[in-house]
Formats: sequence, structure tokens, C-alpha cells
Amino acid sequence: MKLIIQGGNTLRGNVRIGGAKNAALVLIAASAIAGGEVILDNVPRISDVEIQLEIVQALGGRAEWQGQGRVLLSWPDKLDVAVPYQLAKKLRASNLFLGALAARIGHARVPLPGGCDIGFRPMDLHLKGLSAMGFEVELEHGFINAKARELRGARIYLDFPSVGATENIMMAAVGVPGTTIVENAAKEPEIVDLASFLGGVGATIRGAGTDLIKIEGTRTAGAFGSGRGSRFSVIPDRIEAGTYMIAAAAVGAEVTIENVISQHLQPVIAKLQDVGMEVAVGEDSLTVRRSGPLRATDIKTLPYPGFPTDLQSPMMALLCLVQGTSVISENVFENRFRVAEELKRMGAQIRVKGHSAVIEGPTRLLGAQVKATDLRAGAALIVAGLAGEGETEICHAELIERGYEKVAEKFCALGGRIKYVD
Ligand code: UD1
Repeated sequence: MKLIIQGGNTLRGNVRIGGAKNAALVLIAASAIAGGEVILDNVPRISDVEIQLEIVQALGGRAEWQGQGRVLLSWPDKLDVAVPYQLAKKLRASNLFLGALAARIGHARVPLPGGCDIGFRPMDLHLKGLSAMGFEVELEHGFINAKARELRGARIYLDFPSVGATENIMMAAVGVPGTTIVENAAKEPEIVDLASFLGGVGATIRGAGTDLIKIEGTRTAGAFGSGRGSRFSVIPDRIEAGTYMIAAAAVGAEVTIENVISQHLQPVIAKLQDVGMEVAVGEDSLTVRRSGPLRATDIKTLPYPGFPTDLQSPMMALLCLVQGTSVISENVFENRFRVAEELKRMGAQIRVKGHSAVIEGPTRLLGAQVKATDLRAGAALIVAGLAGEGETEICHAELIERGYEKVAEKFCALGGRIKYVD
């Protein structure tokens, strides 16, 4: 699948942001713990979500769309413990069934996960957490096999505030007797959303959003989920919102981004202001306006509330266009500069050395044939294509569909010229 973009149009108008991919993916897995029917609202209809729902069905659960953004999930008493490799290899978030199944039935078999090719993504912290709580964890034939043995609450220090490890440990801990404490936990808004969801179905979790999270578990794994149903609305996607903000900056536009929690976007707002953008914060919207020339800035990606690694690539595309030298330091994933080679095909001047990229601007980006090397690289190429001159053809555009709902439609509604072709 390809995306074809005719560059040079300014963007103007309003765009509505969907539910957060990374929150929806973990909540779909966590629904296994809830017991009873779960209705999730504000779920983005993107391919990663569709795969996560297929995994629910493969495990014996029910997952169906019930209109715009609403998904109904329910789980039988007896479920399968093994996530099929054919589905797991397609997305890393399949690993989130590890914690969910461990809590629900005390046993999970999850393939070492797939996902975006953005570097080596180990699972050691997830496994360390489950082992500390008394799960016997083994790697066998490409699967992680976690089985309840002598479960007890534990104190777990994460060497890095991993989002996935924090989520898996939180979910598993719900089914482990005693208090589990996660230190140096991830603080991302998606973690807070998971804690709110689990709280809504009867779990006791304190401290989500700080680096110390306490989970009070139930007596035995599998005892959780007493059949209480629940209904929950997923938070807005801060990465989708940030992508439209960055695109507006690159193209020289005035765009209002609706359905956002502006607090989640503070690091992005601050950086866009650094480069010279005006950002007006409304109640649940943001207006981004460019009224003068933009200047270079430096970016360091960090766990939340630092600048998100998922917006590093779109930001790189923007920094090609501004006056001066910018330096990006990537501190979360080691292989996230592959988009630089694609941007160079459009004329960008970027030097990558280890974890840093030096971008010299301004560059006149010229449309070219380029390749989405991963989801966020694809988003960066859209930004570059919209701001560049002439036609840009992005191949492997199906990767963009993993995380952006109706991206061509939304940019077209703002005045961009962009379409999918098979
Ligand atoms: C999640 C997000 C992803 C985002 C990332 C960082 C989901 C579905 N995906 O991915 O979009 O880019 O957070 O914000 O929510 N690490 C280890 N050992 C582990 C686990 C992680 O060393 O056991 C390292 C990773 O290699 C990486 C860093 O920790 O360098 C961050 O990874 P992590 O926060 O776990 O990212 P994900 O949960 O995979």
C-alpha cells in the first residue's frame, strides 16, 4: 500500500483526535481480568487494535465492534493460555496478555513479541517482575511461559521505567496475594488509564502516574474478576495529536486539534513554542499557529513527562525545515533514526552518530519515493511530504495504519492533498 502526497498546501481547520493506541491495546488485554462484559469507548479503529482483538478471540474471548469507537469484550470462564505466534509476531503489545492472563488464570504462554523494527526490545524487566511475585518463568520454543507457583506481593525496582513492564507487572500483581510495589515505574498517561480501568473493576492501585505504584492483590491468582461488567472510555491519543501539531508547524498553518488532554502534550507544546510556534490551549483542544519564521532547537527523548520517542521522527522532519542546527538525542530506543535516510532522499541534511542526529536547516524538501521503515517514520514522511515541493510517494504505508486512524481523510479535511493507493 502506498500514500501519495502533493506537497505545498497549507493546512487549516479542525481535526479530531481518536483514542490512544497504547492505552486501547493494554485495556483490551486487561479486559481479561475484569470478568463480565467490558465496553470500551473511544477505541481507535487501527490495525494494531484489530490484531489485539483477534488475539482475544483466539484465546476464547468475544471481541466485537459496536459502532464508532465502541468495542464489546467478554471472556468465558475457561480460556486458552497461549497467544498464537501468527498474531503475536505482528505487534509488540501482544506481550500485554502475559500480565493479564497471569492475573486471570495464573498461567500465560506468550510468544516473544514482534512490532516496529526500532531496536532491540528485550523483555527482561517484565520477566524479573513476574518472577519476583512467584511466577515460574521460562523461555521455551520462542514462548514465555509464566506459571503461578508461590505467589506473594513483591518490591520490584525497574532498571528503566519501561511502559510495557510496568503494565504487565501491574496486571499480574492484581492476582497476586499481598502488596506489590513497583519502583522506578513508568509514568505515562496510558499507565494511569490502566490503573483507572483496573480500579473500576475492583482492583486497588495507588500511585499510578508517579514512579512508585502500589498494587494490593487478591488472595489467589484467578480469583479476580467476580463477573462485574464495566464501561470505560480510552484517553485521547497524545501521539496522534502531536503528529498533527508538528505537521501544522511544518506546513505553516493554523490548525485546531480537538479531543486532547493538553497536559499530556506539555513536552510537545514546549518544544513547538521553542521553535517559534504559537500554541493556544483550550479546554479540550489546542490551536497551533505559525506566524513567523521557525528556529532550530534540541530534543532529548525521555520517558514521560519527557519528550516522547514516538514523536521524535515527525519532529526530525520539522527540524529539517527550520533555520539553524538542531540536535536530537534518542534515549529510549537505539534504532530510531532510520527515517533520516528517507528524509535525505528528499534533500534533508542529517548526520547520525550513535544516539544523536544533527540536522542542518533550512532545507527545501523535494517530493521523492520513500519508504515507511516503521509506524512513526511513516508519520514523519507524511509531515515531510506535506511540507515539501511536488509529489511524495510513501511505500509500506500499511505501517502507518497501525497507529493512525483515517490519516489521509483527516489531512484532506485540513486541506492537504494525500491519498492511499494499493
Ligand atoms: C511502549 C509503547 C511505544 C513507545 C514506548 C516508549 C505500547 C504498546 N507501546 O512500548 O509506542 O515508543 O512505550 O514510550 O505502549 N526495555 C528493556 N527491558 C524490558 C523492557 C524494555 O530493556 O524488559 C527497554 C527497551 O528496550 C527500550 C526501553 O526499555 O529501550 C523502553 O521500552 P518500553 O517502555 O518497554 O516500551 P514498550 O512498552 O515496548
